[in-house]
Amino acid sequence: MLGSFLFLVFLAGAAVTGTPQSSIDQCPGYKVSNVKKGSGSLTADLTLAGTPCNSYGADLKNLKLLVEYQTDQRLHVLIYDADEQVYQVPEVALARVESSEVASNKSALSFDYEEEPFSFTISRDDEVLFNTSASSLVFQSEYLRLRTWLPEDPYLYGLGEHSDPMRLPTDNYTRTMWNRDAYTTPNRTNLYGTHPVYYDHRGEAGTHGVFFLNSNGMDIKINRTTTGKQYLEYNVLGGVLDFYFFTGTDPKEASIEYSKVVGLPAMQSYWTFGFHQCRYGYRDVYELAEVVYNYSQASIPLETMWTDIDYMDRRRVFTLDPERFPLEKMRELVTYLHNHDQHYIVMVDPAVSVSDNEAYQAGVEQGIFLHNQNGSLYEGAVWPGVTVFVDWFNSDTQDYWNGEFDRFFNADTGVDIDGLWIDMNEASNFCPYPCTDPAAFAISDDLPPAAPAVRPSSPRPLPGFPADFQPTSKRSVKRAQGEKGAKIGLPHRNLLSPPYTIQNAAGALSMSTIQTDIIHSGEGYAEYDTHNLYGTMMSAASRVAMQSRRPDVRPLIITRSTYAGAGSHVGHWLGDNVSDWPHYRISIAQILSFASMFQIPMVGADVCGFASNTTEELCSRWAALGAFYTFYRNHNELGDISQEFYVWPTVAESARKAIDIRYRLIDYIYTSLHRQSQTGEPFLQPMFYLYPKDQNTFANDLQFFYGDAILVSPVTEENSTSVNAYFPDDIFYDWYTGAAMRGHGANITLSNIDITHIPLHIRGGNIIPARSSSAMTTTDLRENGFELIIAPGLDETASGSLYLDDGDSLEPSHTTEIEFTYSGGVLHIQGNFGQGSPAKVEKITLLGQSGKSGKNMSIAKTLDLSGPTEVNLK
Ligand code: NOJ
Repeated sequence: MLGSFLFLVFLAGAAVTGTPQSSIDQCPGYKVSNVKKGSGSLTADLTLAGTPCNSYGADLKNLKLLVEYQTDQRLHVLIYDADEQVYQVPEVALARVESSEVASNKSALSFDYEEEPFSFTISRDDEVLFNTSASSLVFQSEYLRLRTWLPEDPYLYGLGEHSDPMRLPTDNYTRTMWNRDAYTTPNRTNLYGTHPVYYDHRGEAGTHGVFFLNSNGMDIKINRTTTGKQYLEYNVLGGVLDFYFFTGTDPKEASIEYSKVVGLPAMQSYWTFGFHQCRYGYRDVYELAEVVYNYSQASIPLETMWTDIDYMDRRRVFTLDPERFPLEKMRELVTYLHNHDQHYIVMVDPAVSVSDNEAYQAGVEQGIFLHNQNGSLYEGAVWPGVTVFVDWFNSDTQDYWNGEFDRFFNADTGVDIDGLWIDMNEASNFCPYPCTDPAAFAISDDLPPAAPAVRPSSPRPLPGFPADFQPTSKRSVKRAQGEKGAKIGLPHRNLLSPPYTIQNAAGALSMSTIQTDIIHSGEGYAEYDTHNLYGTMMSAASRVAMQSRRPDVRPLIITRSTYAGAGSHVGHWLGDNVSDWPHYRISIAQILSFASMFQIPMVGADVCGFASNTTEELCSRWAALGAFYTFYRNHNELGDISQEFYVWPTVAESARKAIDIRYRLIDYIYTSLHRQSQTGEPFLQPMFYLYPKDQNTFANDLQFFYGDAILVSPVTEENSTSVNAYFPDDIFYDWYTGAAMRGHGANITLSNIDITHIPLHIRGGNIIPARSSSAMTTTDLRENGFELIIAPGLDETASGSLYLDDGDSLEPSHTTEIEFTYSGGVLHIQGNFGQGSPAKVEKITLLGQSGKSGKNMSIAKTLDLSGPTEVNLK
């Protein structure tokens, strides 16, 4: 009864007239009425302007428009259904930013509209940034379309996650957003995460960003019309048209503005910037211990040892393999690591094995797994065989997750991890859609090649479990889809196979993931609408669970799947790359997009490559490049040759050299990351972030800035010992020799770069607080004094900063923030000096100036960084 009532309500709102599906280009668009203008806002009604075209579902007849001038640099435009039934991204997944409602005439951005057919423009001064008159607006029950004109051959960035060039192609390019387990991260396909934000850099005119707050599957197309006019077009499977436009004078400012919309990124502990070792396929706890030992023997600092699903009992989360990773030995290993100031991290997946294990039983009792419409548990197949999946929207899930973490990762009785690795949370499901018999699939030969069943040395085969097990479940009450004002989705949509097909590289929407017609507990969101949020919901819950175990320290969590705003909870690794040169190269564009444009600064690729065998040369180069990711971890796939850095002498040497530099720079990294966590100012930056007016930098994604001060120019070709690096019109200094190099806005070939070396240059105008020497652990490193490296700019001045705290607390009681400035031959040190700050400067190095190469002055000088001071260097 309720069902048919809701259907009638739906019919009233959506103008279904029985018109046969017609071409999208015949859609009538909308007309504007009832416009109400406030000083910083505008609302209006939008009514379908003609015969519905019902091309991909039914046209909605009545829409509403809301425009908010949220700040002087940010404008919010929301087009939603008048009944507010259509799904909107829930606040639990992304909390909305408050509007400080500025008067529209005080804003750098302005909104204008055409009445019929309705279209709008966003402009900055006289320049139009966004113009939706490129096509009529389509708002249907299972499809949205909005197209904006773009300037000819624009410089666009963002729209992750992808493995395409950092500057997005402008012809015939489709970016599909549908999170997927994307083994080998192929380009031009949808990968693990969804970041529907693009940046449009217009050189001198500034940079703006457009964030489309929508979590439905979508294709974003960048292309030209037949007459050559450039456009960007959103083709979306649902949700509302929710846009945030933000602007900055340069890309850095635009990134800062974005952080205000999706949240500032989480600050990480000092130790997390140390080097991490991982692989899939460590045989047992003894092999882990051996790896730790080998690193120490090779004098390569190992900060954190990781373990993949190998530690689990038959791949079941929250269990230990009693033969290969017994609790007692695992606790010994962790104690050993902790006693040596090292750390330990393991993987947890969201799929729980349907078997006699505590995590499953507890989850069934608490009713926190996903269910089919008939009330049975929804089952798929992942590493352990048949699995169920945690429902992150269930209000009991957090208790469950905390409980499992408290039990299994208990400091006194369990595996006392220091950080967490969450994987397979797109979510990945090996059982192909329609997964009618996961149990049969789990024991078939169709499992992916990396599954444990084929591991030659596995002590036992992959178990399969009967599918007839029907647990009773406790489920929370849901609101019905289609309820007025519920914003949880229109009823009667085809949640499995909507009429518009996005270009999901996996095929059907439900292929290799959770079936999209599953309805979540709580409000009753459909997986169809919330699929892209699954990994971020898991990330947020995992952060709370990690904090509940160790309330005072910053949790390090590295996730595979992300959505916009995930950086406020977690860091990210780029998933299953390949041990080849293209993946080595593209990792640079990928980390830059995540760190600067998506505000997930803790990011890195699997160093030396995950899939297939690496080579000595590639691993050696990657050991050095990875030292300039924020998250620096060597990880490798089951069955591939070992690639720990000590395996080859050259790789070991490359790693020792790069880690030595990285560790000396950790306080510089820490200071910059702290700044990003407070202000959104990005640490890792593409070249054009620092030279936004130099067009030669706009598409450069093979060099990058590590903070404001260090230009990294890695060798990017196999069998090469040189790199053709671009140096903007500025002064740079060779990191190794201090020699000045005047850039003239041209490429310079750097040669004789052996495979253990990575070219680094300090950008003039910076002061770097480096540790005067490195150490085997970050704990020891913190005991060392500082060397202040002053690299004067063309104007003979320089500046830098240093942030210090206890390295680990969520809310440190004492902090030190020091500003260094150099001018007129004098170094000034000022700031807030935390109580008992033990930091000491041991050396000050003033690099050669104004192109006079190699003229460095180093003075050994002990200075306590405990109060303001000046040092005359003339
Ligand atoms: C997929 C992850 O991307 C990879 O890093 C991991 O080794 C495997 N899952 C096994 O857990």
